[in-house]
Amino acid sequence: MRSLKTLPAQDVRLGMFIHGFEGSWWQHPFWRVRFLLTDPQDLQKLRAFNGGVIVDLDKSQPVGEADRVPDSLAKPDSGAQPEGAPSRRLRVPMWRAGSTALKSQEARAAKLVTGALDTVRGTFDDLRLGRAVSQEKVAALVDSISAELDDNAPALLRVLQLKSKHQYTYLHSVAVCTLMVNLARHLALDEEQVRTLGLAGLLHDVGKVAIPDAVLDKPGRLTPEELELVRTHPQEGVALLREDPTIPELALEVCLHHHERWDGNGYPDRQAAAGISLPARMGAICDVYDALTSHRAYKQAWLPARALGEMWRWEGHFDRPLLFAFMQSIQLFPPGLLVRLASDRLALVLENGKRASRTRLLVFYSYAEQASLEPSVLVLDGAEAEDGIIDFEHEADAPVPIPALDLYAPAPVPTSAEP
Ligand SMILES: [Fe+2]
Ligand SMILES: [Fe+2]
Repeated sequence: MRSLKTLPAQDVRLGMFIHGFEGSWWQHPFWRVRFLLTDPQDLQKLRAFNGGVIVDLDKSQPVGEADRVPDSLAKPDSGAQPEGAPSRRLRVPMWRAGSTALKSQEARAAKLVTGALDTVRGTFDDLRLGRAVSQEKVAALVDSISAELDDNAPALLRVLQLKSKHQYTYLHSVAVCTLMVNLARHLALDEEQVRTLGLAGLLHDVGKVAIPDAVLDKPGRLTPEELELVRTHPQEGVALLREDPTIPELALEVCLHHHERWDGNGYPDRQAAAGISLPARMGAICDVYDALTSHRAYKQAWLPARALGEMWRWEGHFDRPLLFAFMQSIQLFPPGLLVRLASDRLALVLENGKRASRTRLLVFYSYAEQASLEPSVLVLDGAEAEDGIIDFEHEADAPVPIPALDLYAPAPVPTSAEP
């Protein structure tokens, strides 16, 4: 049996196994709750925490008089990070062709997602019924999503795309949580922000519990009255979230403003451009991307690259540099996108067929030489690729004519409320 002891933060020493923190999960200083404390910087951070720390004595290392890192821990043989350290390594490519290994990875991701579904359903019920949200369960879910992103991102995102009709809102919540965590890490936000943004993704659509399923899942076009009703879900959600004072303000902000648009044509407050908070702009992108790549009663799922291509074409809908950062975070770029490379060249993203994890580019201009190049195909192959996409280029700013590509015809912008 575990021997857990609560200590003031000042009494915690290196070598102790941190089991948890007293008080709100989203206020404590670490991303992961459970870890062996081996890093003096973590110790410093922890001592600034104003609250009780729960230590698992059985899992702790013997503690010396001084806060010395045991030699065996200072240089782990495996080179692995201590369990508590957030991983900042580059995300793996998100979409790979099917393989046997992938099947077991998908089974693992599916197990996580099944558990997540129960937690989200329970959390929505808690909020609907005015009960306090189980912080421990929500914390464990966001933590396990984060860990799965480190090890198994392609399978996790693939599984999250497969939503049955009845699970849609819950799985969409898990998917938006996952995409928010992934984007927040890509933007190098601090651990507390990453965690809170994950939570915000999980709760952004909680107001839909107040909307009848018959309206949410209606196969045809919504009437103006139904549309009006669906568009109350941000305010309905905030009203529910306010009932639990431990839920951070940022989650309420994302809930209220994830349907605002860059050009001011969103709802409910018609905020525009930088007047929309960064978390809400992030929420808008993750939300629409997941909605477009999911099957719904009224539409087929779009392939991820196509969804990104359409989102890029919707003038005025999103914060474009942030949308580009989102593409980088999932390492997927839509055909036709104009990009600058680390090698100071200009290129056009091409279709990549079945090798979906590889980005294929047509390189056609050198900024360094200020000259057109004989167009040539370049395939970016993961993290070790010699070249890489560092920015997008506006078509109007292209120094030479852009080679014509035979792309699919753009689809009309959806007019229903979701997205
Ligand atoms: Fe929504
Ligand atoms: Fe949503």
